[in-house]
Amino acid sequence: MKHGMDSARIVTQGTDWLATLSPNARQVRESGIVEIFNAGRELDDLIPLWVGEGTQPTPAFIQDAAIASMRAGKTFYTYQRGIPPLRQALSDYLSDLYAKPVPAENVFVTGSGMQAIMLTCQLLLGAGDEMVVVSPVWPNIVEAAKINGAVPVCVPMDFDGEGWSIDPEKLLAAVTPRTRALFINSPGNPTGVVIDRETQSTILDFAREHGLWIIADEVYAKLVYNGAKAAPSFLDIATPDDRVIQVNSFSKNWAMTGWRIGWMVAPPALGQTIENLIQYNTSGVAHFMQDATAVALTEGDDFVQQTIAMCRRGRDLCVERLGRINRVIAGVPEGAFYYFFAVDGETDSRDLAFRLLKETSVGLAPGTAFGPGGERFLRLCFAADYDKLDEALGRLEKALR
Ligand SMILES: Cc1ncc(COP(=O)(O)O)c(C=O)c1O
Repeated sequence: MKHGMDSARIVTQGTDWLATLSPNARQVRESGIVEIFNAGRELDDLIPLWVGEGTQPTPAFIQDAAIASMRAGKTFYTYQRGIPPLRQALSDYLSDLYAKPVPAENVFVTGSGMQAIMLTCQLLLGAGDEMVVVSPVWPNIVEAAKINGAVPVCVPMDFDGEGWSIDPEKLLAAVTPRTRALFINSPGNPTGVVIDRETQSTILDFAREHGLWIIADEVYAKLVYNGAKAAPSFLDIATPDDRVIQVNSFSKNWAMTGWRIGWMVAPPALGQTIENLIQYNTSGVAHFMQDATAVALTEGDDFVQQTIAMCRRGRDLCVERLGRINRVIAGVPEGAFYYFFAVDGETDSRDLAFRLLKETSVGLAPGTAFGPGGERFLRLCFAADYDKLDEALGRLEKALR
């Protein structure tokens, strides 16, 4: 009590301490995916299909590369933008995937796809700015905008009973003088929608005309089921001067969700600013993780192809087993690894997900977590071991008939 610090602490404790937090932090909501995951993760006999990851651990050749690098002493601070060999490996990988070359100077290594989203929001959004977001969408995106004081404006996609589509007119009508960016996730989590080239071109033309940024979340780019090398990307059509930032991740393709490493592709003119933001957020990604992801890029194609084949089998099993239940309404996902389905007669998906968890011990994410348009739906991640998925679908079939 003698010192100012002590009395400040006592005063804070005696009042509503929440009121002392930043308004931006206070308004952030718990993720509806994490809520149910936390409620049920310890259940006996649980089959967890609620989170966006497969059941396979990171393949040994990537683990070995990380261990070898760590043993070789790569445990020090390193380049903020990413080590040059990884940026070059990403440049080669992306240039092969897309219609236009992606120079290494456009590539920035980040501590996950999530961090790439947060850095992009920090880069583009300030208090009161708006970001138009196509929904239903992964909840972290709108919360990242809010943490930066910005206002996410969700534009729901149309669902016609068989699939999801974006009406570019609706998207563009949501733009106001305060809009700074359009957030487009394709292939989409949770819907599995893949945005076609024509829609991307319409959006890009509009963004050019109005000086808007496009944040293209393409973390599921390779997870498409039509045999293409990748989903159509804004990087196929953007010029170096376009205000396009791709956010991306090593999590999904190479079974590396727990590692926390991703990347951004952005105009090189932003380089110093992005580097500064990385410096003041995390000061970069561990060197040995970067060495391992360079190996994932150059030697991981067989593994990625196996992952796609496993996801396709999982998707087809969901379509066959759940799709034939009269009450289940869903499209066939064209990309990503989620089956997003509504159940006729059920309107509160949070309530339904908790009920199904109790009755079947199958963990699903409620569509209420994914914003406007998703409320009636449940999300099931089908990147799972085939027998486990089969077992989960059997339990769900019984409960939903
Ligand atoms: C659409 C979307 N973007 C970004 C991410 C971030 O992935 P990570 O932070 O694991 O790299 C996810 C993860 O689920 C996602 O679904």
